[in-house]
Amino acid sequence: MANVICRQLTKLYGDTLAVKAIDLEVFEGEFLVIVGPSGCGKTTTLRMIAGLESISDGEILIDGKVVNKVEPRHRDIAMVFQNYALYPHKKVYDNIAYPLQLRRVPKDEIRSRVVETSRLLGIEPLLERRIRQLSGGERQRVALGRAIIRQPRLFLMDEPLSNLDAQLRIQMRREIIRLQRQLGITTVYVTHDQVEAMTMGDRIVVMRGGLVQQIGEPMTIYNHPANRFVARFIGSPPMNLFDGVLENRNDRLVLCTGFAEYALPAQVQARLPSTHLAGGAAPVVCGMRAEDMTVDLADDESDNHALGVVDLVEPLGSDVFVSVKFGEEMLLARTAPDLPLRETQKVCLKLNLAKMHFFDPKTEQNLLR
Ligand SMILES: Nc1ncnc2c1ncn2[C@@H]1O[C@H](COP(=O)(O)OP(=O)(O)OP(=O)(O)O)[C@@H](O)[C@H]1O
Ligand SMILES: [Mg+2]
Repeated sequence: MANVICRQLTKLYGDTLAVKAIDLEVFEGEFLVIVGPSGCGKTTTLRMIAGLESISDGEILIDGKVVNKVEPRHRDIAMVFQNYALYPHKKVYDNIAYPLQLRRVPKDEIRSRVVETSRLLGIEPLLERRIRQLSGGERQRVALGRAIIRQPRLFLMDEPLSNLDAQLRIQMRREIIRLQRQLGITTVYVTHDQVEAMTMGDRIVVMRGGLVQQIGEPMTIYNHPANRFVARFIGSPPMNLFDGVLENRNDRLVLCTGFAEYALPAQVQARLPSTHLAGGAAPVVCGMRAEDMTVDLADDESDNHALGVVDLVEPLGSDVFVSVKFGEEMLLARTAPDLPLRETQKVCLKLNLAKMHFFDPKTEQNLLR
């Protein structure tokens, strides 16, 4: 299986910089997910790896060899596109067999490999049907079958699940992960859906505006987002962000927000840059995930509590999203479903300060070590 390295990979369309000098390594056998908002350069990056798009600058290495000038068909890559690109009037059998027919593989061998592949994907009974007689999920499986039948050394997928309904997407997501584990083929998977990124990726690459924002394992990115953009993009609901000022009071940092003051625990203070202790007061952007806050009916106000008003209650069954308003500020907390909450009610919100994130207001970078 292949290892892929992108060095300073750049793509210019006229004067649009679609991909800006990205550095990236895909490890052998890994499932790497590239995620980011529309137009951030995901498809362009994937197409350059596939050789379908020329490279403006930088290089791509597959198994240590520079492939910048290697034709797509000589890169031993299979690609699955968002629209599947199947032949609608041909049978499922011929769609899956196509890459082998192109390579003039003997007929008997083609037959046994098509049967084996279709069994793996649970579509053996459909081999004699035509593509136009299939559902979206079945077409998706045929596209996967056509991609894996050659056992390529690299698998590239560009939003392969976006045409499917929500339930089928979850099912296919699991099937793709199982298939990839079983075959062990190095895979680069592109999506704009952070849930797919979190659930599928061995590692995730977060992109924005043609630049890589962060590369890491899903939970590392979730627990330590490199900057404000990643903090909001990864995780649902998005991380709450609010302004604060860190004040040095006798060498202890106190966080002053629009709704309460908090003495920071020593272990949090130790992870902040020492410059924040040196100055008198430093403005910061604070980040808090919905699950790192507790909503209470009690209305006593201590230093770790903030009194607010319930603005909106959104029950999800398993838990409830509660939007709490503090003057200008609104924070969204996730609570247990059994708390009797209603709108306009006064509540107190406890923040788990050990889980708080701090971002530089100017550079937007995460300040915590
Ligand atoms: N052929 C092209 N000519 C000119 N500009 C292009 C071309 N293809 C893409 N772009 C531009 O390059 C940028 C990156 O496009 P790309 O298709 O890689 O985004 P993406 O991350 O895949 O987005 P999406 O999630 O919408 O598919 C966009 O600003 C897009 O408008
Ligand atoms: Mg795209």
